[in-house]
Amino acid sequence: MQGTAIAQPNIALIKYWGKRDVARNLPAVGSISITLRELFTRMHVEFDHSLPADALQVNGAADDKMLPRIVDCLDRVVGADRPCARIASTCNFPIAAGLASSASAFAAVTVAAARAAGRVLDVDTLATLAGRASGSAARSLFGGFVELQNLEDDIRCRTIARADDWPLSVVVAITEKGPKAVGSTEAMEISRQTSPFYSSWVEQQAHDLETARTAIAARDFEQLAAIAEHNCLKMHSIMWAARPPMVYWNAATMRCLQTVRQLQGQGIGVFFTIDAGPQVKAVCLPEHVDDVEAALRATAGVTGIMTTGLGGGARLEDSS
Ligand code: DP6
Repeated sequence: MQGTAIAQPNIALIKYWGKRDVARNLPAVGSISITLRELFTRMHVEFDHSLPADALQVNGAADDKMLPRIVDCLDRVVGADRPCARIASTCNFPIAAGLASSASAFAAVTVAAARAAGRVLDVDTLATLAGRASGSAARSLFGGFVELQNLEDDIRCRTIARADDWPLSVVVAITEKGPKAVGSTEAMEISRQTSPFYSSWVEQQAHDLETARTAIAARDFEQLAAIAEHNCLKMHSIMWAARPPMVYWNAATMRCLQTVRQLQGQGIGVFFTIDAGPQVKAVCLPEHVDDVEAALRATAGVTGIMTTGLGGGARLEDSS
């Protein structure tokens, strides 16, 4: 009764921000993301009747903070009358610092738990279950460019272009390693309840999705760059105008944005996006990756760089 799965994080180009149903964790808007290749979470789930309680280890250390969300996820996948589980997670990038660690973690644990329980579920069901745990996790079941569609009563994810259809690169500039002060789940609710910009965000999302979809279909980098940066800055503006205000950026985040603007001025194909954390993700054409890496590495306050291509969806490990 065990299973191991690997999932990669994804980065939204058109963001999910806000929920229409908190209990079912249904997003208020659709979103489009790219699944990354080199960053990963590996989850091992083992059900054991002799265990007195569920136990979670993250990178070798017990993690009781994350445990309740993992327990809920296992209950949804397997049923609450299941045996207790030993869950072990390893992750090769900083957790909870705006690098979508929850997306890869919940995608991987959903796939691993289904295998451990002997349940054969199709990818749409796995994505729906992962999305109940964390909205962005649904997208990590799929590879390449992924659209999460907001259906009337649920969600549906689809790959709209494969990783090798348009092999973009992503350079992540790390500006701070610690966990964020306000988690995205809470920040979304504060945004919805208090930000004067929230309703126009929801209204405009269909237009942003359509623009990005068209740009991806045409491999139009400039159009994708313009709409992704616009969508990202709108998401952060909602938070800045919320009460209390929430600012995930630090001084180095802003300097990275200036670096990206300078590169664009030199004709380099690159654009930025930023999630609920201070790291900057620079999406670029593969032929420009060395220039982008060098410029971000030289930006004051950047403590590390991670470069990755686009990858595939969550999967069982071969031995699983
Ligand atoms: C800024 O998926 O972490 O990364 O559903 O509450 O777990 P929950 O939120 P989560 O939020 C991701 C927000 C984002 C944008 C995105 O990935 O689309």
